[in-house]
Amino acid sequence: MARLSDENVKLAAEIIGRYPVARSALIPLLHVAQAQVGYVSDEAMEHIAELLDTTPSEVLSTCSFYEMFKRSPGGTYRVNICRGISCHLLGSDELIEHAAESLGVPVGGTTDDGKITLEAVECVAACTEAPCLQVNYRYVGGVATEDFDRLVTGLRNGAHPEVPSHGTVATVRQRIPPARAAGVSVPSTPGPPAWWERHRANGEGDAAAGTLPEPEPAPPGEMIVTARRDLHDGHTLEGYLRTGGYEGLRRALAAPPAAVHAEVRSASLLGRGGAGFPAGVKWGFCPPKVWPRYLVVNGDESEPGTYKDRLLMESDPHQLIEGCLIACYALGLSQCFLYVRGEMALAAERIAAALNEAYAAGYVGSGICGSDFGTDIVLHSGAGAYIVGEETALIESLEGNRGMPRLKPPFFPAAVGLYGRPTIVNNVETLSNLPWIVTHGAAAFVGRGAEQSAGTRVFAVSGHVRTPGTFEVPFGTTTFREIICDERYGGGIRDGGDLKAFIPGGASAPWFTAEHLDLPLDKAAVDAAGSMLGSGAIVVMDSTTDIPRATHNLVRFFARESCGKCTPCREGTSWLEVILERLLAGRGRPGDLDLLTDVCDNISPGLSWPPRMTTICPLGPSAASPIVSALRDFRGEFEAYLPRRIPVAAAPVTP
Ligand SMILES: Cc1cc2nc3c(=O)[nH]c(=O)nc-3n(C[C@H](O)[C@H](O)[C@H](O)COP(=O)(O)O)c2cc1C
Ligand code: SF4
Ligand code: FES
Repeated sequence: MARLSDENVKLAAEIIGRYPVARSALIPLLHVAQAQVGYVSDEAMEHIAELLDTTPSEVLSTCSFYEMFKRSPGGTYRVNICRGISCHLLGSDELIEHAAESLGVPVGGTTDDGKITLEAVECVAACTEAPCLQVNYRYVGGVATEDFDRLVTGLRNGAHPEVPSHGTVATVRQRIPPARAAGVSVPSTPGPPAWWERHRANGEGDAAAGTLPEPEPAPPGEMIVTARRDLHDGHTLEGYLRTGGYEGLRRALAAPPAAVHAEVRSASLLGRGGAGFPAGVKWGFCPPKVWPRYLVVNGDESEPGTYKDRLLMESDPHQLIEGCLIACYALGLSQCFLYVRGEMALAAERIAAALNEAYAAGYVGSGICGSDFGTDIVLHSGAGAYIVGEETALIESLEGNRGMPRLKPPFFPAAVGLYGRPTIVNNVETLSNLPWIVTHGAAAFVGRGAEQSAGTRVFAVSGHVRTPGTFEVPFGTTTFREIICDERYGGGIRDGGDLKAFIPGGASAPWFTAEHLDLPLDKAAVDAAGSMLGSGAIVVMDSTTDIPRATHNLVRFFARESCGKCTPCREGTSWLEVILERLLAGRGRPGDLDLLTDVCDNISPGLSWPPRMTTICPLGPSAASPIVSALRDFRGEFEAYLPRRIPVAAAPVTP
């Protein structure tokens, strides 16, 4: 019973066939197993081990790393309430307390009728709709306590047929495009692909040997990647083609790959995943004669406060697919893996549907648009682990392992990545810009932003603002004041209140205060001011914010999400959490604030910016950011939590 059913064994074979190395199918197969009976049983793991020719302990090792995999049955509906920073600021702690009380179960428990399992989870990428929750990975935003009660009653009465039972097989199937219509087979030859060879043979290996067709005039308005977000059918092939879709790909195919790469380099497109490295430069690190080589799309968006990649994947999946195709063409990449965060069910379903349409219409697969260019795109759903957003951890996860970062240097993924092959890892937003750049030209793209911050960027503004939302604005020229206060964007502090502090670039970024409001959203300017734009998440805190509690919220996140590979991060983040917890509980000790600083200093010596590291990846130093910022600007609030000590002489003497 708990082994995979015959039908699922067939599905498993189909899934395994999509990857050059079978082990990569491990996480997808665990999803199938969980969908069959609602959790991952020992028998299912043994069966998966047989199918992948590995051991059950290897399967357990991977399974136990990922939050979404459950080892025991739960309720029909998993209600996961977000407790990330933006939801925390808008009352998620109270919502979780209310939920536990009204359901009569602790967090992690299942109601007696077996219907509801209550969980408190980290940011689910809906921060602008805080406080929010997911029911079996479907979003519900802006949830007040009375909304929660209504929702639960509806779930119990069967009033929400749109929500599938926990992890049904149908849902998993929906996320996996059926066998490719006219697809290419998984590349098995080690050599370069045909179109690449043809251009080389024609002497077009150099950008100077060819150019892209004359660019189309750029459309008016600010938007590049979110232009279709409000169309009812922007996610379908029909809606996409009607609005200029796949035009960039056609233009790219009319030029040599090197010319496309040169155009992207001229566009100075900075990566939108956090580090801000120029895409065209990174592409150039692919060693010239090594194949196969891969594209991995980072759609794992999990940084608290961040909500842009999900928006792009849900509202405009074809734009992302077109961006992937342009990158594959420009670099001679053999195959693309599109890694979507596991909790983003709708994004995965929209991409799966778009891939099916694109394969059927000849935009993906072999002979794309009648040319000799062909590539395969594999959709891969993760299973819940923030650290997997780090590019080397993403690759480990894609190889079917625990998502633990690799040491770099010496090897960066562009040289040694997936399966030890050259691999370009790019963020969803980065790739979504490519169709526009190829259609309208690098010069127009550069013209949309500032000198060192070309184009536009998508920022999520959440927390204590009047109109939280996700906004695409010119990069490098818009200021924090505009995006937080302007009526077109954040609309100012809620209830006419005062700004206390804001996080300019996701949970890992050092905080800013009112004096930074006139800084432009420009990478160089924000770096120089001691923080970063990171993942494009601006979290605003008004004067009602309890700073030590907000700090604890962020530190707890990093402690929970540390992969445990290096000691300063594994031990340090846990100690930071423990010290803050006792402080908030009124049990702080006199030296605790200095101890917090000392632990941070052990994780990131000197507490400078950019941070020095004793760890393999930047997650460890990220945990120090909120503490260093909060103690710098709001030390008094921490001191107020310390128990008041009464001098011994003045203490009442009790017999
Ligand atoms: C802890 C950690 C989490 C990260 N999470 C993400 C993520 O969710 N999405 C993302 O695109 N990049 C994330 N990154 C950055 C990636 O490592 C990588 O730089 C990025 O995917 C490269 O794409 P880009 O050059 O297009 O920005 C993360 C980095 C770290 C250290
Ligand atoms: S810094 Fe933390 S998350 Fe990164 S590798 Fe080390 S233990 Fe893992
Ligand atoms: S969705 Fe709750 S903090 Fe992001």
